[in-house]
Amino acid sequence: MIRICPSILNANFDDLPGEIERVAKVSDLLHLDIMDGIFVPNTTFKFELASKLIETSGVPVDVHLMISEADSGVDPYLSTSALSLSVHLEALADPKGTLSKIRESGKRASLAIKPGTQIDSIYPYLNQVDMILIMTVEPGFGGQGFLSEMLPKIRQARIWLDKNGFDETWLQVDGGINVETIRQARSAGADTFVAGSVVYKSDDPAGMVKSLRECAIAE
Ligand code: DX5
Ligand code: ZN
Repeated sequence: MIRICPSILNANFDDLPGEIERVAKVSDLLHLDIMDGIFVPNTTFKFELASKLIETSGVPVDVHLMISEADSGVDPYLSTSALSLSVHLEALADPKGTLSKIRESGKRASLAIKPGTQIDSIYPYLNQVDMILIMTVEPGFGGQGFLSEMLPKIRQARIWLDKNGFDETWLQVDGGINVETIRQARSAGADTFVAGSVVYKSDDPAGMVKSLRECAIAE
C-alpha cells in the first residue's frame, strides 16, 4: 500500500481550501505542518486555522507537529478530527506517555525523527506507534533537497517493522520527495510519502500526485 500525502506548506496561503481541493480526490492524506518558531526556525498555522483546515479538508489529515514541549503541545490536537498526529522524539520528555495519550484519543500515533537523530532511538517505541516519520530534510522549510544519507535509516526501520510483525505500522518520509527520490525512498522501504513543493509548484498538482504514486508503485 502506497500513500501520498501532499503538504500545503508551499501552497498559496490566500486560498488554502482551494489548494486542498486541487489534490483532494487523488490524495490519501493531507499533511499539515505545524511549526512554532522554536523547535524549527519558522512558523506556520496557529491552532485556530489548523483546526479549521482539519475539520473542513475532506481528506484525512496527517498533522506533523514541529513544536517544542510536544508532550503538552499536542493536547489541543487530540480533540480535533485529525487522523494522525506526528510528534518529534527530540521534543518529547515522555515519549511513551505522549504516544499512549495520542492513541487513547483515537488517533494514529506517529513518532518523527530529524536527520541528526539516530534510528536506534525509536526502537524502544516501536510497539507504541502507528507510523514512523523519518525526516529526509532538516525540518522547517519546504523546497530543500532530499538527504540520501537517510536511506539507511529507512531500510533499518523497514527491517524492524517486518521482523517484528508490525504490518500495520506506516513508514513515512518527509522532505525533498519528487519523482526520482520517491523511488529511492520506496525501494528502501517507505510506504507513506509527503510531497510539498513538487506538488504545488506543478501546473497540475493532481497530476503530480498521480505521477508520484505511479513512480512509487513501479519501484
Ligand atoms: C518540512 C516539512 C515538510 C515540507 C516538505 O519541515 O515537514 O512537510 O512541507 O516540503 P518539500 O516536499 O518541498 O520538501
Ligand atoms: Zn512535514
